[in-house]
Amino acid sequence: MSKLKIMSVFGTRPEAIKMAPLVKELARRKEIESICCLTGQHREMLDSVMEIFDLKGDYDLNIMEKSQTLSTITTKTILGMDKVIDTAQPDMILVHGDTSTTFAGALAAFYHQVPVGHVEAGLRTWDKYSPFPEEMNRTLVGDIAALHFSPTVANRDNLLRESVQGEIFITGNTAIDAMKYTVRDDYRFQTAALNELDFSSRRVIVVTCHRRENYGKPMEDIMHAIAAIAGTHPDVEVVYPVHLSPTVRECAFGILGGKDRIHLIDPIDVQEMHNLMARSYLVMTDSGGLQEEAPAMGKPVLVMRRETERPEAIAAGTVKLAGVERDTIIGMASELLDDPAAYRRMAKAVNPYGDGNACPRIADAILWHFGKIETRPPDFSAAK
Ligand code: UD1
Ligand code: UDP
Repeated sequence: MSKLKIMSVFGTRPEAIKMAPLVKELARRKEIESICCLTGQHREMLDSVMEIFDLKGDYDLNIMEKSQTLSTITTKTILGMDKVIDTAQPDMILVHGDTSTTFAGALAAFYHQVPVGHVEAGLRTWDKYSPFPEEMNRTLVGDIAALHFSPTVANRDNLLRESVQGEIFITGNTAIDAMKYTVRDDYRFQTAALNELDFSSRRVIVVTCHRRENYGKPMEDIMHAIAAIAGTHPDVEVVYPVHLSPTVRECAFGILGGKDRIHLIDPIDVQEMHNLMARSYLVMTDSGGLQEEAPAMGKPVLVMRRETERPEAIAAGTVKLAGVERDTIIGMASELLDDPAAYRRMAKAVNPYGDGNACPRIADAILWHFGKIETRPPDFSAAK
């Protein structure tokens, strides 16, 4: 029996973290030959994930440039994938989420008439410029894909509203599957700055920030808010692994560099990051992935964006939208630091995004689609 050749295409840190457990699951299925094409949209931050999950790319387009533009990422990916698809002849191409790699990978597959499976399908803000360019990337991939793997019911409903073609499966988010590989109670940090922190006597706030629509004034306001929060709370330590984007680094180091109890460190590997969050008091971020991971650990999250495509944890009460205005962010963080009851209301573990079994569901859905198994996998449903 010939095996189905399933090619996963990814290139940035969050795609790698959320695709790694799926690539491993596919490799475990006897009916499937699982191969990976890395675009290398991120270099160091991608390699770090591959190392932690002990994975290697079968192809690597190695496209990253310093301060790259959306056009260079997209064109280099499409041209590079032309050759890879001709050589590898996959039966299906899987892409994840909403990056430029995702869109260009799906478009290249379409040009070769290879069916696309979209992991993390159906997230929407309904504002094409926010997040930018992610909202448009994921919407366009929704039109291309044959199989849509939606984390939640609301994501599925978004796709139904757009009348996308193909099959939609509700699977949960593979981010929660990834956490099964990383979070350990007895974990010891490798990063010196983290080992030196006393998590029992200090309240640790984990900060990340990188979104393109926050570049400029919103990002400066966010940094000033972080400085003010640390300045007024002597028992707080801010740990901020700063993204490698030169724009972000200039802003973060320019405003927060050298400030007391603010630790600006290089990006840490995903095992360090998940275990850091698990021991933190609060997460303040504009990241998508952190909005999914922190609630599963019972950590309150303030989202420093104007909107979110992830309303489920807001409804569950662990995440609040703080916006990008300095004083509002300071006010919301101060409430969680100064009012124990307000903190307790938000600090509860909820799992609206998954039960850790998204990857087996996606693998089953692919096998079902190709007629290799008879039963369609049942949809994930979040515990009430
Ligand atoms: C990209 C995605 C965004 C995702 C984010 C995750 C697009 C358009 N954006 O944004 O959706 O949320 O990744 O982090 O796809 N750099 C390095 N080394 C690395 C990674 C980045 O030096 O390992 C630097 C490079 O100078 C690069 C810059 O960061 O040009 C920006 O990277 P890019 O992938 O263009 O944008 P992100 O902001 O990372
Ligand atoms: N992350 C990491 N190291 C860091 C910062 C983040 O491993 O220094 C992880 C984080 O736990 C999550 C993912 O990277 O799994 C989120 O990536 P990012 O915020 O860059 O992208 P987004 O999710 O916003 O697309």
